[in-house]
Amino acid sequence: MLAFIACGERVKTLALLPCRPRGPRGAVNPATLESNRMRQRTCLAIVLAAGEGTRMRSALPKVLHPLGGRPLLEHVLTAAKLAGGAEIAVVVGPDHAAVAETTHRIVPDAQIFEQRERRGTAHAVLAAKPAIAHKPDDILVVFADTPLLHQETLARMRAAIADGAAVAVLGFTPADPTGYGRLVTRGGELIAIVEERDATAEERKIGFCNGGLMALAGEHALGLLERIGNANAKSEYYLTDAVAIARDMGLKAIAIETGEDDVRGINTKAQLAEAEAVLQERLRAAALEAGVTMIAPHTVFLSADTKFGKDVTIEPNVVFGPGVTVEDNAVIRSFSHLEGAHVGKGARVGPYARLRPGAELGADVHIGNFVEVKAAQIEAGAKANHLAYIGDARVGAGANIGAGTITCNFDGNAKHHTDIGAGAFIGSNSSLVAPVKIGDGAYVGSGSVVTKDVPADALAVERGAQTIKEGWAKRLRQVKGTGKKKPAKPG
Ligand code: UD1
Ligand code: CA
Repeated sequence: MLAFIACGERVKTLALLPCRPRGPRGAVNPATLESNRMRQRTCLAIVLAAGEGTRMRSALPKVLHPLGGRPLLEHVLTAAKLAGGAEIAVVVGPDHAAVAETTHRIVPDAQIFEQRERRGTAHAVLAAKPAIAHKPDDILVVFADTPLLHQETLARMRAAIADGAAVAVLGFTPADPTGYGRLVTRGGELIAIVEERDATAEERKIGFCNGGLMALAGEHALGLLERIGNANAKSEYYLTDAVAIARDMGLKAIAIETGEDDVRGINTKAQLAEAEAVLQERLRAAALEAGVTMIAPHTVFLSADTKFGKDVTIEPNVVFGPGVTVEDNAVIRSFSHLEGAHVGKGARVGPYARLRPGAELGADVHIGNFVEVKAAQIEAGAKANHLAYIGDARVGAGANIGAGTITCNFDGNAKHHTDIGAGAFIGSNSSLVAPVKIGDGAYVGSGSVVTKDVPADALAVERGAQTIKEGWAKRLRQVKGTGKKKPAKPG
């Protein structure tokens, strides 16, 4: 079951959290007891992000590809943080400055370690040796390309360490085990992990596989990691060898089972698209659960951080990019695209509207078809119902923006601001050449190119005087086809 992180009083984020079981009134909730136990333990999360990601065929590092509007790495860092990873270490490859930068944007105090040569997962973990040497109680090793991981899965792995295991491995039974390490068990006990390349024909028949995530007891971690050798098919230092080594040392290793989605790794664009489909299903289910009305949820695309108030309606085919908040009773009509925008209570957006970053719509604002809003505050009750561009602007409360209005914010060199006062009326097809200020209650005649400020309650008209030539059109029709000279053109 899914629940929501309350964010502000009414608005809820779609970030997914497990629903805490409610105990009988007065009884101590076992989940609370468990989280108290975890809070008393120190935890280091090591995120491996040194992979080259060549199969993505992209100049962008693999872990920075977006899923649900945020980088893969951010999903993993968020899960690690929520699972109590107070200390975060990210292992990056050479030339991965962008990965380090993104890490610091999300977790400012994260430690970055560089793995200069790719010599295997255990070698990558050891790049974070200075952090491991502090002997935190629990160490979580997570792959940065496994973004659908639930934080409660990580919490279960930590609990296994708290209960006395030296190594906890996350196992799953994929539809196709090809390529995964196999979990060798005996009498329910985890004996070893064998990588496919090193496995015997018999071992390859095992369906229970290594999801790749591991938890280690901090007190044993360094001892285990430093004993790992590279005598295998790839001559790599395999983290998975920690299991057999722990057993040899008389320590306990256990496997925890999870579903395939939890450990779904991303190596290709096709896998990225599959993971997106899984995430979108989760986000839509969470939105519906929170009371959002969607007629065709499968056509609505959400971001991991999309926030909705109460009684919001979303028509089919709407895309929410990152950073969108929609307040109570707002309606987002079909074919609209929103990104970095705030939609106030009772506002109506679309159909076919585009809200770009910095679009701030107040209560009961109407933004209609083919209207684009960027970096603009549209105050309560203002309307721009058809075909307009409002960028770098303020539109005062109750103002009316006619069809075809353009704020000419860019002079080819710099952006300028347009300020439209409360209750102003901008006639259709007007160009407001910024910087320019239209006073409260002012009126701009249709088709005007406004380059000077308009005082409050004034009328501004800027267009050629209209000429009337009586009977001209009729004469034109009469001379057509006769070969005679046309009537003189007006003006
Ligand atoms: C690994 C596991 C395998 C498991 C599978 C699950 C090992 C030895 N094998 O295999 O049992 O079934 O994950 O997906 O752990 N990385 C580095 N530096 C390195 C090597 C890897 O940072 O030198 C990072 C990669 O970026 C990636 C992760 O570690 O995020 C896993 O590495 P990868 O090479 O994909 O391991 P698999 O062969 O898939
Ligand atoms: Ca892999």
